[in-house]
Amino acid sequence: MGETRETIGVIGSGQMGSGIAQLAAISGFDVWLHDSDSGALQRASEGIGAALRKLVSKGKLSELAGTDALNRLRCTSDLEDFRHADVIIEAIIESEDVKKKLFSDLDKLVKPSAILASNTSSISITRLASATRRPAQVIGMHFMNPPPVMKLIEIVRGADTSEAVFSKIKALAERFGKTVICSNDYPGFIVNRILMPMINEAFHALYTGVATKEDIDTGMKLGTNHPMGPLELADFIGLDVCLSIMKVLHHGLGDSRYSPCPLLVQYVDAGRLGRKKGIGVYSYKKEPVKMLIS
Ligand SMILES: NC(=O)c1ccc[n+]([C@@H]2O[C@H](COP(=O)([O-])OP(=O)(O)OC[C@H]3O[C@@H](n4cnc5c(N)ncnc54)[C@H](O)[C@@H]3O)[C@@H](O)[C@H]2O)c1
Repeated sequence: MGETRETIGVIGSGQMGSGIAQLAAISGFDVWLHDSDSGALQRASEGIGAALRKLVSKGKLSELAGTDALNRLRCTSDLEDFRHADVIIEAIIESEDVKKKLFSDLDKLVKPSAILASNTSSISITRLASATRRPAQVIGMHFMNPPPVMKLIEIVRGADTSEAVFSKIKALAERFGKTVICSNDYPGFIVNRILMPMINEAFHALYTGVATKEDIDTGMKLGTNHPMGPLELADFIGLDVCLSIMKVLHHGLGDSRYSPCPLLVQYVDAGRLGRKKGIGVYSYKKEPVKMLIS
């Protein structure tokens, strides 16, 4: 990306999209943030405002930079506002059908030079690109959670992604202050190909009564120096997101060892999606709740 003020569109204002929009605004871009759910958009707008004020109060951002970032960020429920965006980063629900429909709609709407990037955790970039007439301009830009804090972006080239588009997205990631790793387009890419089977295995350990959730997490924190235990991390990521990724790995790699643990499936069926719902493997609500397996 050059030095002029480019416009970045972010679609999906959940935990990832709101963080990506905040990061892009702080990095000096004009940002449009969209969500199909007006409540989610409202929560994102308030959350980003609060996060920027916190950065200013901690002295990590000047008052002027905080105000500028807020002024450059606009929330919209109308995708028409993305007509002039240079790069669109999609961070909606982890569903291939829903993402493909969005990519097809965007392809018809945005300017011919625009790049369509997906923050998908596992879905094939090549297949998302096939829903558009611009497969050379479709790429994976996988941020880690939370995007303003985590130092990595995993860039995924689809089968037809051009070298020029790869270079532009790499430069954009570096302007966000991130380190880039590059993955070919296989299920789960690098990080989730390795992380999700570990999380799934932690669910199996809990499901089969190997240990309590606390001991599984403490074991991995103190025994392998992970900052969070795998079950805590699953709650942080969202159990629905973890389950979707396991299904993509299972289907895409065709090996039963990637089959989602029944306990993970049951928690998602019960709406226990993790921190964002106040309950997952652990409860984040004040009142005590009955755990399926403790
Ligand atoms: N949660 C993580 O740790 C993590 C990390 C890296 C990547 N991802 C990926 O990022 C994406 C978003 O994950 P998240 O955790 O932010 O989910 P989330 O549930 O917090 O947010 C998703 C948002 O997308 C919106 N949405 C759904 N369909 C839409 C549509 N058609 N148009 C516009 N908005 C729509 C929803 O209203 C919701 O606000 C997924 O692809 C996920 O795999 C998640």
